[in-house]
Amino acid sequence: MSDFADKAALVTGAGSGIGEACASMLADRGASVLIADVNFDAATRVAEAIGKRAVAHEVDVRDPKACEAMVAAAVDAFGRIDVAVNNAGISGPRAVTAEYPLDAWEDVIAVDLNGVFYSMRAEIPAMLGNGGGSIVNVASVMGSVGLPRSVAYVAAKHGVVGMTKSAALEYARQGIRVNSVGPGFIQAPMLKQEGAAGAAYLHPMCRLGRCDEVAELIAFLASDRASNTTGSYFVSDGGYSAQ
Ligand code: NAI
Repeated sequence: MSDFADKAALVTGAGSGIGEACASMLADRGASVLIADVNFDAATRVAEAIGKRAVAHEVDVRDPKACEAMVAAAVDAFGRIDVAVNNAGISGPRAVTAEYPLDAWEDVIAVDLNGVFYSMRAEIPAMLGNGGGSIVNVASVMGSVGLPRSVAYVAAKHGVVGMTKSAALEYARQGIRVNSVGPGFIQAPMLKQEGAAGAAYLHPMCRLGRCDEVAELIAFLASDRASNTTGSYFVSDGGYSAQ
């Protein structure tokens, strides 16, 4: 499969988990990929594993200037940007709303909501410069349903789904498609941090999802195979949100 032959992509949070799987899949299918992560060592490891079509880049998506520099680095490296996967995210601590720490609220919103906005804000002008592109924002099943003791994460992920729809409407006639995905609980480092050992049984399939399963959905939406799809939100969640 060479859906991304001659295409240039960037993936945020590509140093680990879903982002890493996604960057590897896009590269396997022909893309040059900017591996963007706040953890430069992790980004470098992933870029070296992918090989010569991958470039590691350090970015903190909480910083709008850093997001602009990330897009500039992709354009410098590859001459254009066709695909952007805004995936960097953190889960935050678990606490009920009235006891949710204010600094944790700020942190989660900064990465998971502001980071996606700052990334899109920088990516869209570059895509307009080459006649269009495809953006996929990584939300969560928590972009459509609630989760106790996760108010900041749920708010941010609902926000990502909403921002995706607005941006899709704004740029639909200019060749930029914007979609979002909602993974259920996935076997990735973030889940281990939460210590959600029993999470598999929250899903009708009674198993956790895999990073490559989410990457398949992202790669489809990013590709021309999804040429009539914009403003959508698709889950990869083992049936979680159907309950
Ligand atoms: P992960 O923790 O394996 O990877 C996240 C990556 O983002 C890390 O490499 C980290 O260094 C990077 N990152 C964190 N803060 C950053 C910042 N300020 N700027 C740039 N990079 C930053 O997490 P995972 O599981 O792969 O999650 C990826 C995305 O998928 C996140 O948006 C997460 O909310 C979402 N998701 C994950 C689920 C899961 O069960 N693992 C379920 C649903 C959604």
